[in-house]
Amino acid sequence: MATVLVIGGNRGIGLALCKQLRDRGDDVIATCREDIGALATLGVQVIKRIDVSQPQSVETIRQALANKTIDLLIHGSGILTNESFEDLDFDRIRAQFEVNTLGPLRMVHGLTHHLKEGAKVGIISSRVGSLDDNGSGGMFGYRMSKSAVNMVGVNLSHELKPKGVALALLHPGLVATEMTGGQGISPAKSAQGLIQRMDQLNLGNTGKFWHAEGYELPW
Ligand SMILES: NC(=O)c1ccc[n+]([C@@H]2O[C@H](COP(=O)([O-])OP(=O)(O)OC[C@H]3O[C@@H](n4cnc5c(N)ncnc54)[C@H](OP(=O)(O)O)[C@@H]3O)[C@@H](O)[C@H]2O)c1
Repeated sequence: MATVLVIGGNRGIGLALCKQLRDRGDDVIATCREDIGALATLGVQVIKRIDVSQPQSVETIRQALANKTIDLLIHGSGILTNESFEDLDFDRIRAQFEVNTLGPLRMVHGLTHHLKEGAKVGIISSRVGSLDDNGSGGMFGYRMSKSAVNMVGVNLSHELKPKGVALALLHPGLVATEMTGGQGISPAKSAQGLIQRMDQLNLGNTGKFWHAEGYELPW
């Protein structure tokens, strides 16, 4: 039985990941900010008051984990505020960097000592962070923050590889959650693909950017 930590597990893709990992028998620990949401009924351990933009959140998780070590860490928390060229709000852009870029860096860095040798880390990025794939522009803050988290992930993969830990950057597909206003595939379908990607992750393919459907994405 693997011990899995899902950061941002109270709704959307994170919640679907928690359900499927629990259903296959993993020991699931999920974090959320305040709204425990559907996690309450899942029967998984919940760590509340985890805002990935706040440094003290790392300490809160460490204390809750105590001596537990983690086999799989998935960072799902993210925000999208969709700035166009005509509507560049720098505070909103900065806020997306805090959550989407610095959040995963803060969490993975702060929890490194809880990762077992052979552990895996998945950071949910987005295809819209791909420079090569940007055919339309828009979403300034979101795109920039997700491009930057791809760099975070590749850098972390170099740091973690000597510790025997592999890392994948993940695109979940277009998924019907609050973020997309309900457009796209079901969170369950996306989570199924993401879990397959994590199952296939190893030190030989660490530091790559995967679509949940199983193909590599361009940077
Ligand atoms: N849906 C898509 O089509 C799509 C496509 C590409 C990538 N993604 C990425 O997939 C991930 C999950 O997205 P989703 O579609 O499931 O979105 P969602 O339903 O809007 O859920 C977002 C999650 O992030 C959490 N979160 C937001 N701000 C946070 C903060 N400051 N600290 C901690 N947690 C925070 C939310 O918690 P609260 O309930 O407390 O707000 C919630 O658990 C995100 O990283 C997103 O960028 C989604």
